[in-house]
Amino acid sequence: MKLACIVGARPNFMKIAPILRQLDQHEGVETRLVHTGQHYDAVLSDVFFQELGIRRPDVSLEVGSGTHARQTADILVAIERLILHEAEKSTPFDRLVVVGDVNSTMAATLAASKLQVPVSHVEAGLRSRDRTMPEEINRIVTDGLSDMLLCSEPDGVANLLQEGHDESNIHLVGNVMIDTLLHQVEAAKQRDALEQHELMPGEYAVVTLHRPSNVDDEATLTKLIEVLRQTARRLSVVFPVHPRTKKQLERFGLMERLDQAPNIRLTGPMGYLEFLCLTSQAKVIVTDSGGLQEESTALGVPCLTMRSNTERPITVTEGTSTLIGSCPEKLATQLGHVIQGEYKQGKSPELWDGKAAERIAEVLVGSHR
Ligand code: UD1
Repeated sequence: MKLACIVGARPNFMKIAPILRQLDQHEGVETRLVHTGQHYDAVLSDVFFQELGIRRPDVSLEVGSGTHARQTADILVAIERLILHEAEKSTPFDRLVVVGDVNSTMAATLAASKLQVPVSHVEAGLRSRDRTMPEEINRIVTDGLSDMLLCSEPDGVANLLQEGHDESNIHLVGNVMIDTLLHQVEAAKQRDALEQHELMPGEYAVVTLHRPSNVDDEATLTKLIEVLRQTARRLSVVFPVHPRTKKQLERFGLMERLDQAPNIRLTGPMGYLEFLCLTSQAKVIVTDSGGLQEESTALGVPCLTMRSNTERPITVTEGTSTLIGSCPEKLATQLGHVIQGEYKQGKSPELWDGKAAERIAEVLVGSHR
């Protein structure tokens, strides 16, 4: 069986790492790691390959940034060319494996489907029901075209059944990103990230913001920066800034306001281990990231989610996340609960046990027997 494993952006790398490791142990399975190049900066891409022990991509498509249409179109063309090229050499792909919900996930799925190459989607069925999020469109299209739907939580299964997917195509396998987290957390804690940023364990907040809905609109971003300044009055804040957020902060003249706040440490994007070192020992995480909602739940660290909806509701119902929207008052109240030790406890959901990749590999290999 020959599988093309597709990655493109930062949150894909920690998901593919354990899957590749498992697949490479199965005899008769040949994997090709394909990097679309959606993320190309060393800090958003290379460092994850090094730290997570992922081999260099077998194929690099180098599509780069662009509008959604441009980026999607470039990936479509490049993946189509790759699939046709392999078929011409009489070494066709039997299947594509895609992960998550980024543009690369959706575009690769669309190209493969048109060429009748089946697709397995890891992290299938998640729905925020908010189509203003590009990721929601990517999830709907990817699931609509995939014939193997690998779900991280029961809500994913329920959503897919409700949308009319055949039950036999749906597999509840657990959360593969948590495989990587559990595998790496002890090594991450050995890093010196706290010393570097002059932080004490359990006495600081980690903040990340990069969603277009939060950072592309000046009024919203201004409000969120105020929220951060408020947070910093009560706790030290470390804020690794995503390139798109940096661009917007500069564009709206907000960088200074953050720079001047005494208790806020602004940094560039971090590698996986340095970041996990910080998140695993934080008092609280304030974020609009999807993955971080899950990681904080697995770590048992309170997570105040700067979104009004989530495609990962289990992190709220069972885990440590609370939806804040962009409301400063709500954030202040919940922060107060965290600081006073009155915040909910939460637990790690079933099948977030470090063995999701084993189950994914079993389903993939089983489908070919
Ligand atoms: C993408 C994903 C998002 C994910 C995020 C994690 C989509 C629609 N979005 O968002 O779901 O949470 O990755 O980071 O796929 N840029 C760089 N260097 C890079 C890549 C991008 O500076 O290596 C800058 C460029 O200005 C680019 C902008 O960031 O235009 C946005 O990059 P893009 O990949 O389109 O989306 P992200 O915001 O990173």
